[in-house]
Amino acid sequence: MSRRRVAALISGRGSNMAALLAAAEDPDYPATIALVLSNRADAAGLAHAAARGVPTAVVESRAFPRDRAGFEAAMEAEFARHGIETIALAGFMRLLTEGFVARWEGRLVNIHPSLLPAFPGLDTHARALAAGVLLHGCTVHLVSAGVDEGPIIAQAAVPVLPDDTEAVLAARVLAEEHRIYPAALAWLAAGRVSLAGGRAVVAGVAPAAGALANPLPSVPALPKR
Ligand code: GAR
Repeated sequence: MSRRRVAALISGRGSNMAALLAAAEDPDYPATIALVLSNRADAAGLAHAAARGVPTAVVESRAFPRDRAGFEAAMEAEFARHGIETIALAGFMRLLTEGFVARWEGRLVNIHPSLLPAFPGLDTHARALAAGVLLHGCTVHLVSAGVDEGPIIAQAAVPVLPDDTEAVLAARVLAEEHRIYPAALAWLAAGRVSLAGGRAVVAGVAPAAGALANPLPSVPALPKR
């Protein structure tokens, strides 16, 4: 089996990248993480990847002020050097140009910490709490030109609980990110994701059974007479 050569792009902690690396340790996983690239030399995730023998690269976005195309060309030189076929954005906090997105169309995937199209952009957990939503979650999607836009491959929902802080809610969502991102990347790498009318369709997956409701809609006890 030839495995799809994937670059994981990070800007910081890299826990999603670590989840992808862990999944790709299985020889039957259809992708290999052939490169971890960060736009920041101080990204903690770089050491995690290097410790596992995964090639790493740093292309400092700071070195390309007001030159996103130049920054992307430097990244693409690294991708070419490592034979990269697919890109997985994993907490990569830079906006990409339309040209870059077009060149990698269908081969560029992102994880976002909300149930898109709700809460694109930053501070998703704080905004979910402020909005009072009772279900929140995460989304893996193919990247198209708009910010946090593109055909959705997978989502996971979690309840928002009355005492949640931003950190507690973020941790609940992150655990689900680590479940759905490796699965979604595997489907993409195996060629099981196709587009129909602008929507992503994944072949051979089981739809979720049942619904998640929060709070549970149990019937209240009748008042005693
Ligand atoms: C993750 O929650 C990811 O979904 C989010 O940044 C975090 C990175 O954590 N990405 C975005 O907000 C992109 N719009 P990680 O470095 O531990 O994977």
